[in-house]
Amino acid sequence: MKKLVSTLLTALLALALITGCSSQKSEVTGNHKIGVIQLVDHTSLNTIKDAFDDELKKLGYTEDNLEVDFKNAQGDINTCASIANEFEGEELECVMAIATPAAQAVAKLAVNTPVVFAAVSDPVGAELTSSLDAPDKNITGTCDEVQVDQIVDMALTVQPDIKTLGLLYNTGETNSVTNIKNVKAYCEKKGIKTVEATITSVNEAQSAVQALASKCDAIFTPNDNTVASAMSVIGSSCIEQKKAIYVGADSMVQDGGFMTVGIDYEELGRETARQVDAILKGKKAADIPVKIFKDDLNIYVNKNTAEKLGIELPESVTSNEKYIEL
Ligand code: TRP
Repeated sequence: MKKLVSTLLTALLALALITGCSSQKSEVTGNHKIGVIQLVDHTSLNTIKDAFDDELKKLGYTEDNLEVDFKNAQGDINTCASIANEFEGEELECVMAIATPAAQAVAKLAVNTPVVFAAVSDPVGAELTSSLDAPDKNITGTCDEVQVDQIVDMALTVQPDIKTLGLLYNTGETNSVTNIKNVKAYCEKKGIKTVEATITSVNEAQSAVQALASKCDAIFTPNDNTVASAMSVIGSSCIEQKKAIYVGADSMVQDGGFMTVGIDYEELGRETARQVDAILKGKKAADIPVKIFKDDLNIYVNKNTAEKLGIELPESVTSNEKYIEL
């Protein structure tokens, strides 16, 4: 018996050593240079960028072994295009792009330079790859498709009387077009009508909400960069109009939206850094599948917004272990 126990312990120790060693990252060697393009400064994209930077540090990158040319396009598509041109003239080992329009702008660099995108909701629809499992264009990354069915189900749990859902988004964002198509299909299945208000810039956001509010019982918006950039104005506008706005990302709840069921964007930023690390260590983009974030979702609620709307959340929601108040 003693013998058996000691054999087992030895085996366990050996296993711990093996797994311990194999999970250790290989060291960073040589000097590297990458480009990073961020579409715009909104809460979620900033979270992704910070987590990306932090994870690179953890992986052993320092100012001495990694030069990062970081550019923010301030929400302007033309600026995205000129940043892509600037990157083209530099000797970069990899380009990382945060959000769909930024990734689409630098996609042309992939003929020479691997591109890693962060938080692209529909990489195939955005024509960044033909396959998520086997990237075929020297472009890979992380995907944050919105789990619209879970958000609509949650909306119906909180407000069972919703008959018409108002949809707010920018038609110019491929990511939103796909998520909106999905939410429409799900609403149809559930017997809920939808009405739309579309915008092309942040300036149109407030009047779009006003136009939409009279035609619907509640509003849904996906993880749309234009909406996210105007979220605090939209949040107050929805409160004024007494409409709950269900959103596509935790940051949009934090910035004044009502509620979502969504992913942890910090983890997405960290995973994007691990993909860039793999590329700097010689791995091909084609051998790194796109990582889709759609599991372990949390329920995020803005308590202040809920109070102002006079909505009381059912106990089944607030007692959920995934429930988080922002
Ligand atoms: N998924 C968005 C895209 O494909 C980018 C994004 C990430 C985003 N987090 C967000 C947009 C939060 C709005 C809110 O471009």
